Amino acid sequence: MKECEERTVICENVTVKDGRLRFAGQDCGELARRFGTPVYLYDEDRLRANCRRFVSAVKRAFGEGGFVLYASKAAAFRQMYRIAGSEGLGTDVVSCGEIAAAQAAGFDLSNAFFHSNNKTDADIAYAMDRGVGYFVVDCSEELFALAVAAAERGIRQKVLLRITPGIDPHTHAAVRTGQVDSKFGSAIETGRAEEMTRLALSLRNLELAGFHCHIGSQIFTADPFVRAARIMTDFAADMRDALGYTAKIIDLGGGIGVRYVEDQPSCDPGEIIGEMAAAMNERCAERGLPLPRVAIEPGRAIAADAGMTLYTAGSVKRIPGYKSYVSVDGGMTDNPRFALYGSPYTVIAAEKADEECSERFSVVGRCCESGDIIGENIPLPPSVGRGDVIACLTTGAYHFSMSSNYNRVCRPPVVMLKSGGAYLAVKAQTPEDLLRGEV
Ligand code: LLP
Repeated sequence: MKECEERTVICENVTVKDGRLRFAGQDCGELARRFGTPVYLYDEDRLRANCRRFVSAVKRAFGEGGFVLYASKAAAFRQMYRIAGSEGLGTDVVSCGEIAAAQAAGFDLSNAFFHSNNKTDADIAYAMDRGVGYFVVDCSEELFALAVAAAERGIRQKVLLRITPGIDPHTHAAVRTGQVDSKFGSAIETGRAEEMTRLALSLRNLELAGFHCHIGSQIFTADPFVRAARIMTDFAADMRDALGYTAKIIDLGGGIGVRYVEDQPSCDPGEIIGEMAAAMNERCAERGLPLPRVAIEPGRAIAADAGMTLYTAGSVKRIPGYKSYVSVDGGMTDNPRFALYGSPYTVIAAEKADEECSERFSVVGRCCESGDIIGENIPLPPSVGRGDVIACLTTGAYHFSMSSNYNRVCRPPVVMLKSGGAYLAVKAQTPEDLLRGEV
């Protein structure tokens, strides 16, 4: 029998052999039958490799003081915190829910950075009482509230200020955050960032640890990151000159892009981080500023290509002269990213991966909404039909975490693949789970 070559699709952990799609070396058709569909799959080795890639790039670029925070909004179930923690990453959290999940996973919360542009008094109390290490502060109201809460507890709370460097990274408007008119942070340009620095330094129960920025997400080129690094370093030097305050930490946020479809580039985080470090070193030398500890906060680049979603096709509908649909047993409830951002995906009939994809389909979900779309114009084999396993690639970031129960559809389980085996990380929701808490 002729041995078929194994070919790679999008990312090296996704391959096709003998017409069958494999993820992390395992057969997707068999996984679909074993765990049911829809199912979120995660490749634990890939997650760990992504974590290590960032840690080594950051240490190489910024020295031993450099550190990586996993932006857990990308996928915030317990096992993700365990994996990130065991690889030496801290974490970025944005809600009590994420703090609770991290804590339940045994994550060291002194390495947690609490973001969010509007933390309530209850959020602040929850986080402080659990020993969250750093608050990344967005506004003066939060500074005052933190100072009061810290005084009540007799502690000095470490904080960073979220600074808006005034950069438009030319990514989707909904995930752009670094421009002056952003809802996030204090702009350098308007003088607000300096006012916030003065205020933070004047509050006795707060310890200003440094500055943070995050310019946006799904950015493919080094240039906006390099500009942000330069602007933040200059800002830190300006604050040293104006106020005699030297920042210990500069956190440059996340945002490195990930390849979802063939015509997108794949980014090398090491290269981008190296360029950021070169810019910072240069500015620090010019301004006589000691290099602070530098943090990077990747979410998507850690989780996205470690994930895949499997569905089962139901109906196939051809409307002659118009378009054709394949409906799957999930949709916008487990993946709202097409509906929100028009994000493109690579979709493959997992057990027909070598059949010629000579027809184009809209792959749609099961919700009562026409915008419930996984992908438009998806090439699939004409034989695609009920019962076929349909794989959507690169779904490890912002899928589980953005899933919803619209139409009371239950969230799929999360299955981790590891060394040829598989284990359940999150159980599938049941209709009874959804009713819990209702009178
Ligand atoms: N740090 C901060 C403060 C952030 O707000 C974010 C993402 C990150 C780090 C991580 O960014 P990443 O490395 O994942 O690009 N739901 C959107 C993405 C929203 C990103 C929000 N903030 C999506 O599905 O594309």
